[in-house]
Amino acid sequence: MKTDVHATPSTHPERLQKYLARAGVASRRAAEELIAAGRVSVNGVVVTAMGVKVTPGLDRVEVDGREVAPPSDHVYLMLNKPAGYVTTLKDPLGRPIVADLLPDIGRRVYPVGRLDADTTGLLLLTDDGEFSQMLMHPRFHVSKTYRARVEGTPSEQALDKLRRGVVLTDGPTRPAEVELVERQAGSCIVRITIREGRKRQVRRMFKHIGHPVIELHRERIGPLELGDLAPGAVRPLAAEEVAALIEAAGKER
Ligand code: URA
Repeated sequence: MKTDVHATPSTHPERLQKYLARAGVASRRAAEELIAAGRVSVNGVVVTAMGVKVTPGLDRVEVDGREVAPPSDHVYLMLNKPAGYVTTLKDPLGRPIVADLLPDIGRRVYPVGRLDADTTGLLLLTDDGEFSQMLMHPRFHVSKTYRARVEGTPSEQALDKLRRGVVLTDGPTRPAEVELVERQAGSCIVRITIREGRKRQVRRMFKHIGHPVIELHRERIGPLELGDLAPGAVRPLAAEEVAALIEAAGKER
């Protein structure tokens, strides 16, 4: 199956005249003349100086009041990972892998971070290494929200421990947002938002307070929600979604 997944932006700033040339507006030389003539605006402000940089997908560039944009260089996909799939592109043990769920797009895309094999939900895949690094690197602190079904019902005191941070074998966790969503017989649903992504972190945090995770599902990364994408389904991100993630990484630093 071929899917059109190329209509999304690159994350790298570039000179305005190069952007205009790639958008097919004019050659770089002619683009400089357009800029000097005051016919080009960036985010609503006319730019006449040379050397201004813009980020495709993030900045809005107009020529004579009409938006222009180059075709995208990268692929950004969202997958609703089902349980039982390993977040890898190859598995020597022959287990089901997330690559099995991807359409044939003629590009090699990589998972942005990892979900445990038994975790379900939002997984991003891209061929944009810089974007991936930006979302994964602890320095940027992009939030990730999980819906966890845990054993028993943690007290508010126990949940407060998670909110403040607990000390795991690899160090203290940063403050988390934690909300008890629903009580069930013998278990309950807790929504937790963390801003780091250590190995099996959410499972280890709940185990630490004596309420091991039974099921774990990622609902959201920064501003991006999984929504009603069916388990096992894949869709390309819209340009605005990629831009919002980049912006979140910038803001949440
Ligand atoms: N935390 C976990 O424990 N597992 C995941 O898959 C993701 C976050």
